Amino acid sequence: MNLFDVYPLFSIEPVKAKGSWLWDKAGEKYLDFYGGHAVISIGHSHPHYLQMLEEQLEKIAFYSNSVKIRLQEELAQKLGEISGYPYYNLFLCNSGAEANENALKLASFHNGRKKIIAFEKSFHGRTSLAVAATDDKTIQAPVNTVHEIVFVPLNKEQEFRRAIGRDTCAVIIEGIQGVAGIESPAADFLKLIRQECSAAGAYLILDEVQSGYGRTGKFFAHQLSSIQPDIITTAKGMGNGFPIAGVLINPLFKAKHGMLGTTFGGNYLACAAGIAVLDVIKEENLMDNATKLGAYLTENLKGMDAVKEIRGTGLMLGVELHINSAQIRNELVHKHHIFTGSAANKNTIRLLPPLNITKSEADFFLNGFEKVLKTHSKVSPA
Ligand SMILES: Cc1ncc(COP(=O)(O)O)c(C=O)c1O
Repeated sequence: MNLFDVYPLFSIEPVKAKGSWLWDKAGEKYLDFYGGHAVISIGHSHPHYLQMLEEQLEKIAFYSNSVKIRLQEELAQKLGEISGYPYYNLFLCNSGAEANENALKLASFHNGRKKIIAFEKSFHGRTSLAVAATDDKTIQAPVNTVHEIVFVPLNKEQEFRRAIGRDTCAVIIEGIQGVAGIESPAADFLKLIRQECSAAGAYLILDEVQSGYGRTGKFFAHQLSSIQPDIITTAKGMGNGFPIAGVLINPLFKAKHGMLGTTFGGNYLACAAGIAVLDVIKEENLMDNATKLGAYLTENLKGMDAVKEIRGTGLMLGVELHINSAQIRNELVHKHHIFTGSAANKNTIRLLPPLNITKSEADFFLNGFEKVLKTHSKVSPA
């Protein structure tokens, strides 16, 4: 059997990883400034993470959600504490799309409405409702277009006011748009959304799948503004590579048995991974490190050849170039051994490294990036 060929692949095959580094079969070393797409939050193979998973594997790896799993409670308690949402409830699942799917269903269960407001250039995943709320027709099958979704441009207050009404079920917005190329909602825009949702009886869902878990220096990106969503979704950095996702739910939503569910969600191993991640973020002050290293990178990227704009906060950065970024990323990985991320905006490179990168690792990236950009500075703008 062959693999269903849906992923364009790097020509490098990692076989080992530690901290911010990957090694290929030939023993060549690569800096991971992509974090496997914002997933590697505490660094590859962190010792505490390995220990928690190994010990759990020895005890019990899986049983279904028909029994009490105390690790789920420990994870919820620690997540509530570090995130500043101790009184929210947690539903555990397996991926970002699934978290958003459940968040949207929950909103609709609660107010009985169907219309969803999402934003242009958004990405919320590939399951039925999540992909319908994603502004990319190329990944929507005809069956996904039956939902009532309205797309509004980001940060356009008038357009948003016109779209929302008493028929709106929920508004879903990324803490910072990631796939789009790192586009932030303005604090005032988020405040307006919050007010309008409350006035219309619509729920505000913050998709923090990519922007959460300390990546921006705050636990959730929306905490850079002073708003409080009704539902928050999280995934990627939550398990540092182990599939786990969560829906943080305001207690105004009352749970009913059978309302939501999953076979694998919240299994022992996923919870052990999730707890280890939170322990390390707290013990090693990784949110502070994200703030510091993000500021250091931003400062040093400014003024480099071909750099048009640097967007984002902490270690969720988008570097928009005057030229197409594909060749630059290619040279970064092949000539300088640095992985970076692409974006829907073809001129933008995404930087999503582990939250515990060091200054010398940031310098390794900056040196390689500067060298590549210099060789392209004569290329005419795309
Ligand atoms: C903001 C956001 N939401 C949801 C998803 C979907 O997550 P998953 O691939 O785990 O389903 C992604 C993935 O890139 C994302 O960036």
